[in-house]
Amino acid sequence: MDIKEIKSIEDVAAFCKRKGFVFQGSEIYGGLAGFWDYGPLGTVLKNKIKQHWIKYFVQKRDDMVLIDGAIITREDVWKASGHVDSFKDAFSTCTKCKKVIRVDHLIEDQLKIPVEGLPIKELSNIIKKHKLVCTKCKGKLAEPKYFGLMFDVQVGPTNPTKAYLRPETCQTIFTNFKNVVNSSRVKLPFGITQIGKAFRNEIAPRDFLFRAREFEQLEIEYFVHPDKLSEFPYKIPNKSVNVLTAKEQIKKKPKLQKFKFKELFSKNLVKTKWHAYWIYQHYNWFLELGVSEKKLRFREHRPDELSHYSSATFDIEYEFPFGWKELGGNADRSQFDLSQHIKFSKEDLTYFDGEKKVVPAVVAEPSQGVSRAFLAVLLDAFKVDKDRIVLKFKQELAPIEVAVFPLVKKQHRELAREVYEMLREESLAFYDETGSIGKRYRRMDESGCPYCVTIDHDSIKKKDVTIRERDSMKQKRVKIKDLVEYLKD
Ligand code: GLY
Repeated sequence: MDIKEIKSIEDVAAFCKRKGFVFQGSEIYGGLAGFWDYGPLGTVLKNKIKQHWIKYFVQKRDDMVLIDGAIITREDVWKASGHVDSFKDAFSTCTKCKKVIRVDHLIEDQLKIPVEGLPIKELSNIIKKHKLVCTKCKGKLAEPKYFGLMFDVQVGPTNPTKAYLRPETCQTIFTNFKNVVNSSRVKLPFGITQIGKAFRNEIAPRDFLFRAREFEQLEIEYFVHPDKLSEFPYKIPNKSVNVLTAKEQIKKKPKLQKFKFKELFSKNLVKTKWHAYWIYQHYNWFLELGVSEKKLRFREHRPDELSHYSSATFDIEYEFPFGWKELGGNADRSQFDLSQHIKFSKEDLTYFDGEKKVVPAVVAEPSQGVSRAFLAVLLDAFKVDKDRIVLKFKQELAPIEVAVFPLVKKQHRELAREVYEMLREESLAFYDETGSIGKRYRRMDESGCPYCVTIDHDSIKKKDVTIRERDSMKQKRVKIKDLVEYLKD
């Protein structure tokens, strides 16, 4: 065991590597910053988080469909969306050591003032006024420049078509809006969700999976008739949450305030009940993943940092080892994207309501990075319990669901293999016959496996096994014939 508690994001990365959750991309050639490979345990956990999204937002609802769009998308899409013009960050190069520094992060880290969205001239003035220097060698910083964050690609060998790796998944939801309406018999209000890769050529990827150049998104665009924004058929539970409002953020000492989710609407923080409802749904999805409420809060975007498409955005924030940071976002994109694609493509992307054609409004966009959700689930599950590390994942998220051990390899292997083969028909089972039984339990605790099944001498006679439960470490004997049902319960 190399660590006893998680103190930094580097500790998380080291633990993830040791246990096979996540590895550095291109590691054997020196690594490639901002790219990560998921290992055996990490891949299962990540897929389970994605499955949970589908179950929660598609399977259990009547008003949501799922699509899977292409990653490489024509330049026109990104001209219409506004990304070609405005998806950029400012960077500065150290005149001495040539380190490249993302300017807004430098100012926020050093001066603790929020500057997201400020024009480059103002960023430059702040650097000069506060005499900010290179974080590595204290050298003078060159005048900041903009850097476009999209990876471009040329498609085809001759007269290549200019395209981009998509920087967000939602645009293929908008470009396919008409296809979905025509093929799927959906009726407003309804949502389209997508899970897929997105790419951003970040100036300074950092904090392990938190700011990567290749990542996956879970996004929902929820469409409502623009004349019926106040017709809201759902209930918003009477639940409260901590919120950092835009007004508080411009004060010297910003205070967190408690709001009921429905008050986000009644107190005019969002334009529609729909938006408040989807902010709640996004939050509740995290609770269902097992993330604790005290690690979550919301932050309203200030007017100066709102994205070009948004009239109101709330970030759901998580308390990471490097502070409270954005876990996911939820914007009211209104009619911006469909109107832009109608204008640029000249296609009719309107919706016919039986009487007239309308451009639906996107009242909410729950937008979630899979790896950020992965980090939150992992960090919340990570516990140090006396002399053991244990990942207390919810059972449905566990990357190994049950482990089977023969107490003594030579004597109990045959029955243990039989039990293992029976269990793996039903669950993600793992067989381990090496090391002391104590070590095998510890390995499974660190992998988050909720149940270990041990076959011993008595098992052969009595046709039963010992089940050891991860969190309580309590043991119980169960008949082999009842084992599957017992574990299912
Ligand atoms: N679709 C919003 C985002 O990717 O930030």
